[in-house]
Amino acid sequence: MSYELVIVGGGKMGSALAEGLLRAQWCAPERLAVVDHTASTRESLAQRLAGVAVLPSLELGDVDENTGALLCVKPDYAESVARSIGALGVRRLLSVVAGLTTARIESVMVQPVAVVRSMPNTPVLVGKGVSAIAGGAHVTADDLVWAESILGAVGTVVRVTERNIDVVTGLSGPMPAYLYLIVEALIEAGVYQGLPRAVAQTLVVDSLEGTAALLKQTGTSPEELRHQVTSPGGTTAAGLRALENRSVRAAMIDAVSAAADRSRQLGR
Ligand SMILES: NC(=O)c1ccc[n+]([C@@H]2O[C@H](COP(=O)([O-])OP(=O)(O)OC[C@H]3O[C@@H](n4cnc5c(N)ncnc54)[C@H](OP(=O)(O)O)[C@@H]3O)[C@@H](O)[C@H]2O)c1
Repeated sequence: MSYELVIVGGGKMGSALAEGLLRAQWCAPERLAVVDHTASTRESLAQRLAGVAVLPSLELGDVDENTGALLCVKPDYAESVARSIGALGVRRLLSVVAGLTTARIESVMVQPVAVVRSMPNTPVLVGKGVSAIAGGAHVTADDLVWAESILGAVGTVVRVTERNIDVVTGLSGPMPAYLYLIVEALIEAGVYQGLPRAVAQTLVVDSLEGTAALLKQTGTSPEELRHQVTSPGGTTAAGLRALENRSVRAAMIDAVSAAADRSRQLGR
């Protein structure tokens, strides 16, 4: 029996996507297969993904021309895995592999395959990720809608040109890491000023969640929201002045540029 979707690589990304697709009832569980070559990973996947086929490899008959494939393995061997998926007859492939271009995937295929490249971020693990997608040479509007429906099961999806996938790789890709660093520093600052660590952690983490909700739910610009909480000559104005003195804004621009440049370099 052929599957509607095969997820190749059942690690962090592949398993998070499989769980999101089951939650969203994207297809019946028995129409979904997850392929992973490691037995211990397959055991844990089978426990987490009730009704889903968990396979050591794909065989002829598991896929037909209507089967979609999701490529979720590490970049080092992604091209050879893509080649073997293509050789089985898959015509539509969504890749989450960092740095691997649609052209490179297309070049290892024996026939034209619609390749959609994406860059998700780690909040997909809790169903709140954000992913950007870009289509390759053989992609139709339907293929993009198909890719959006998959990544939409684990968060928000935006469309970009493939050139801008590198920018996304510098911005939303590592953004959790940027924010962890800021959160860590703010907790230390609270402790330095005398707060118990657990109290500082609650204040910082819950403020982050509340601030994101305010930004999202009000639709107000960050500048306007910042003006609303900055009284002339007040405490927040003093804190912001200290941040501007340390060029925090320029540091953010440099961080995104450095990460995007590194992505371009890895893609070559
Ligand atoms: N994690 C993220 O936050 C994130 C964000 C954006 C993009 N990505 C991209 O997502 C991809 C997967 O990342 P990940 O973090 O999910 O990696 P991961 O946890 O290492 O998962 C990859 C899985 O694929 C298995 N595998 C390797 N070769 C295979 C093959 N030929 N057939 C079947 N299974 C195979 C691996 O098994 P073994 O490890 O036992 O070999 C592992 O279980 C990467 O290309 C990465 O660039 C990840």
